[in-house]
Amino acid sequence: MQTLGNGHDWKLRMFSPVAEIHLDRLVRNYEKVQAQVGDTQVMPVVKADGYGHGAVPVTQALEKAGASFFGVFTMEEALELRRAGVEGKILTFECLNGDVLESALKKDITLNVSWHDQIELLSDFAVSEGNCPKVHLKVDTGMTRLGVLMDEVEKILDEFKSRPEIRLEGIYSHYSTSDEGDKSYADLQTERFTRVATLAEAAGLKTKYFHISNSGSVLDMPQSYFNLVRVGMILYGAYPSDETPESINLEPVMNFMGPIVQLKRVKAGTPVSYGSDYAPDSDAYIAVVQAGFADGMPRNWFKKGYVGYRGRNYPIAGRVCMDQFMVNFGDDEPAIGDHVLIFGDDGESRILIEEIARATDLTPYVLMTAIGGRTRRIYVEG
Ligand SMILES: Cc1ncc(COP(=O)(O)O)c(C=O)c1O
Repeated sequence: MQTLGNGHDWKLRMFSPVAEIHLDRLVRNYEKVQAQVGDTQVMPVVKADGYGHGAVPVTQALEKAGASFFGVFTMEEALELRRAGVEGKILTFECLNGDVLESALKKDITLNVSWHDQIELLSDFAVSEGNCPKVHLKVDTGMTRLGVLMDEVEKILDEFKSRPEIRLEGIYSHYSTSDEGDKSYADLQTERFTRVATLAEAAGLKTKYFHISNSGSVLDMPQSYFNLVRVGMILYGAYPSDETPESINLEPVMNFMGPIVQLKRVKAGTPVSYGSDYAPDSDAYIAVVQAGFADGMPRNWFKKGYVGYRGRNYPIAGRVCMDQFMVNFGDDEPAIGDHVLIFGDDGESRILIEEIARATDLTPYVLMTAIGGRTRRIYVEG
């Protein structure tokens, strides 16, 4: 696989922003998460195109590293993985609808059941087809998103018991505050979910998987693990929030970069970019970098932001545009075609996505999944 680095003759190449995806770092993060949760199975969450890292290569690398159950949101995302040859189990989180049943059965995709009327839909399908996709029941323990209500759980479990044609393989829920320092609400959700697991056992349901944990809770809530944890963010190498402990030493998987396409020497006071609200204090080299907010470059980062180049940080000059932004290099003269590091770790500079999230009042989730547009992904294995 191809790797980038400054000093290459980029004049010979097409200019575009680049997301360099370090699959070796991804695998090391996965191994550290697995070590943290011990015997509990880790389900990598690869929805939203692997949080902007490319679902197929990410899943293939993790499958090779031993992961065997993946979480996506839509059936289309699941089918993309199957088309690419992913053999592991796949669970979709989206609200169940009749259109996905046939594909789920044919491609062995596990579905999410999150409301009572879906049980009847599945039952009718199972009876007419003589077979049924596997399902996980989603219980709303406090997020107030998809999921059956706590006071309906007993009735719904009885319903599953009386319809053995439906293959109930798992029961799960989702935390709303596990990445916050105050764990009281997450603890309440754990308590509710434990009650659900007890009810399922009492009902005699042979449910294989119980899961509620995500990145935030994997870091500091061992009581949340049950027998499977669903993790996204920490696999990609960022902490979900400032309030979670850094109990696993993560490596950022993506280096997001943009090429320098033009350089000009300007006088002190020369206005730069839209609004003319930035001007260098002294004469400076201003570089134009080809990466804009349409590619995922965080627009508001320009106010305090900087990029890395050959181990030094240089301030972003003026507002980030749709396709480009400018950098104040002072008296340093960077080479056209070299890439600046926007976030990630290129061995010389390290700019964490968490820091940009803090400065722009966004989250690493928003920033990561925004990477796209004209960005070219390059995969690095070692
Ligand atoms: C249902 C579900 N499970 C697990 C995850 C993974 O969360 P995280 O990336 O915080 O680990 C998500 C992500 O939003 C999700 O929607």
